[in-house]
This record gives sequence, structure tokens and C-alpha cells, in this order.
Amino acid sequence: SVAEKAGYKHFMQKEIHEQPRTIGDTITGFLSSKDEDLYRMIKDTDKLYIIACGTSYHAALVGKFWIEKFARIPVEVDYASEYRYRDRIIDKKTVVMGISQSGETADTRFALLDAKNEGAKTLSLVNVVGSSLSRETDFVLYTYCGPEIGVAATKTFTAQLVALLLFALEAGLGRKTITKDDYEKIHNELLHIPSKVEEILKKDDEIKDLAHRYMNASDFLFLGRNINYPIALEGALKLKEISYIHAEGYPAGEMKHGPIALIDEKLPVVCVIPNDRYYEKMFSNIQEVKARKGKVISVATEGDKQIENVSDEVIYIPETLDPLYPILTVIPLQQLSYHIATLLGKDVDQPRNLAKTVTVE
Ligand code: G6P
Repeated sequence: SVAEKAGYKHFMQKEIHEQPRTIGDTITGFLSSKDEDLYRMIKDTDKLYIIACGTSYHAALVGKFWIEKFARIPVEVDYASEYRYRDRIIDKKTVVMGISQSGETADTRFALLDAKNEGAKTLSLVNVVGSSLSRETDFVLYTYCGPEIGVAATKTFTAQLVALLLFALEAGLGRKTITKDDYEKIHNELLHIPSKVEEILKKDDEIKDLAHRYMNASDFLFLGRNINYPIALEGALKLKEISYIHAEGYPAGEMKHGPIALIDEKLPVVCVIPNDRYYEKMFSNIQEVKARKGKVISVATEGDKQIENVSDEVIYIPETLDPLYPILTVIPLQQLSYHIATLLGKDVDQPRNLAKTVTVE
């Protein structure tokens, strides 16, 4: 009903706009429910597998960067449906973490149950309290988003990122792999993220205009590097899920080994290029796209003027610390796919062939 959508046209739109609050709630909720036993276990964990499906899998890919950086635990990320049937190596210092909005995805649940039977310690990150996954794992972390109705995950993705970052920092503190100073620096900046997301959401009309200019493309390429490479994957997934436009996400450095062959004047290439330590590398990748006449849509940091020389369009996001950029860069990609899909007249809350929760293998 209209009332439940709080004045928005679609649940997806409402959920995109709820993110300043759900990010804030997840920070607060996480910090007020610290499980000492979990961090005691993580102290001598020597390998972490993270398994998930869909958008949750992309959160896992970002989480890997944070956990390896701050907690110095080697992390492998896998699709649950693949992990379940491979010859994984588990001992009692192995932790397997499942990420799932619903906590009911069959592939993720069964893969975790198998790992548990083989002697792994298990941990889940879920949005739905009391869900199967949360009951079946040894430890649970939550995102604090309330119900997500739109089939395409949005607010739960950014909340998963926040929870994974806080988990990595907490684990790092316990393992003495980060200093108290670094821990606090990131914590303090994290508190500014909700208002920075709010700033991006104010550009909704600008992004809608942009969507209008590209809505008739038949393919999109999304590029990013390092911690923003999974954001390129997520941008492509969002677009294909709800607009049915073919889209592919790629690590920008790998473009020369294949996707570069696709670039011509008809191909929009969405480039995630915040002002982080990979900026120069990403910039030269964009020049390679431009040289082949691709249409460059850049997501860049406020104040970056030189990016306009190599871009057809620039969506600016506020500045933040390098590790926090993914929480901001994904927002305009959600808005872009929402607007393209609605302009094309697609049902964004109920895309064809997709289900919110997949409880069959
Ligand atoms: C379905 C949904 C996706 C979601 C995926 C994983 O495919 O359409 O939006 O990302 O399942 O769901 P989960 O509840 O495990 O995060």
C-alpha cells in the first residue's frame, strides 16, 4: 500500500532513501551487542571463509579486504552454491561465515551446516532476527535495517558493509593488528557516513536525468579497482536484476584481457574512481575506455576536476577515508539502476523470474 511506502513510489526507492538511518542503526546496534566469546575465538582463527549469494556475496568480497587489512586473517570468499560442493580445507581454527539478508537462503544454510559438520566454527551475519541461519550457527551478527521488501537488496547491502567493517576493526583490536588510534580514526569517520549518504541522495534528480540519457543502451560495463571492484559487480547486478539490461562488472586492470574488445561509442562504462590510493591506476584505465570512444560515467570524489576531462558524466560523492569509500560509491549505482528501470517501465519491486528469498537449492 501507499502508506507502507511512506510517500515513495516503490519499496526499493524507500529503502534506498532509508540508508542514512539503517547505516546509523547498524553502527549503534553493532556496538551495543559486542559478543566477547566471538572475539576470543577470532583471536586464534587462522582462516576465514565467507560464503553468500547475490548481493550478500558482494558484501563478502568487500569484507575480505577489510578483514585481511585490519585483522590479518586470510579470507576466501565463495558463492555458497560453489562452496558446498568443493573440497574445502577445514580445521578447528577455521571459521566459516555466512552472510544473508533473509537468513533463509538454502545454498548458504546448507553450505554452513556442512562446514559445521566438518568441524568449522560458524558465524552468520543476517538481517532477520530468529532466521534459520542465525539459529544454526555458533555466533551471530546482525544488520539493523528492519524488513526489506524490494527484491533487489539495497539498504541491507550497506548495512552488511558497516557490520563487516566493524567486525574487522574489532577483530583487529583483539588480534593487535591495528592500533587503537587507527581503530578510533575509522570509527569516528564512520559516524559521518550517514550524513554523507544523505548528501548523495540529494542528487536523485541529477541521477534521474543521467538515467534518461543512457536508458536505451543494451549493455553496460562497470569498472572498479581494489575495494571498489566489488561495488562495480554490485552496480552491474542491480542494473540487470531490475532493468533487464545486460551488465558486467570487471576489475579495471583486467579490462585489457577481454572486455576492452566490447568498447565502442554505444557502450556506457560506469567507472568507480574515488580519490583513494588507486586513483592514478583507475584514471589510466578510464583513458583507455575514452580512447575507444566508450561513454564514461564516473563516480568520483567531490573536488576532482580532472576527471571531467575523461568523462561524459560525473557523479560526485563526498570525501571519506580510503577504506570507507564502498559504502558511498554504491549509493549512486543503486539510484542509477532504480531510475533506468523505472524509466523503462519495469516493476522494480518484483522483477521477473526473481524471488526475494530462495529457499530451494
Ligand atoms: C535473492 C535476492 C537477492 C539476494 C540473494 C541472497 O537472489 O533476489 O536480492 O541478494 O537472494 O539473499 P540473502 O537473503 O541470502 O542475502
